[in-house]
Amino acid sequence: MKRHPYGCQRAMLWEIVMNLFRIVYYSERNHSTALDLRTLIATCHKNNTARSITGLLHFNGAYFIQVLEGARADVSDIYHRIAVDPRHINVILISATDARERIFPTWSMALHEGVDERSREIFLRYFSKERVDPETVNVDSLLDVLQDLSSEVV
Ligand SMILES: Cc1cc2nc3c(=O)[nH]c(=O)nc-3n(C[C@H](O)[C@H](O)[C@H](O)COP(=O)(O)O)c2cc1C
Repeated sequence: MKRHPYGCQRAMLWEIVMNLFRIVYYSERNHSTALDLRTLIATCHKNNTARSITGLLHFNGAYFIQVLEGARADVSDIYHRIAVDPRHINVILISATDARERIFPTWSMALHEGVDERSREIFLRYFSKERVDPETVNVDSLLDVLQDLSSEVV
């Protein structure tokens, strides 16, 4: 997995004290429920900033992949709230693990939406297919893909 240079030493020490935790999950859009991504991301920014949660939400129109990183109790709490949100269904937890450093340190929640030619290439480079199978996907490769996709987020 690629590493980000992480700012100051004090911040690194704080991350160790807070026990940095990361989860990755997959879910499918619930077409029976309205979805306003702008409102959703505004909520993410508000709540995640308050809890120092960072991450990325990828939405290709059919499914979501989200990474949440922060203190273990905070990430766990927000994940349990998200998991019962009616805007998505079939939530599959891909990974939940301690982490040494954040992959998305500057994003309270980056939104990567849609699949353009470049993101298609990124998926194909790692998986030789465009669609992620949440039951078999390798989480390290998936995180590499998401990190590459995050360079497209403005
Ligand atoms: C795919 C998806 C991702 C979400 N991600 C977050 C998130 O990162 N942070 C967050 O606070 N809420 C997230 N939510 C919304 C939560 O499910 C929930 O609606 C929200 O936390 C409630 O916040 P409020 O009590 O401030 O209205 C997400 C919902 C969906 C469907």
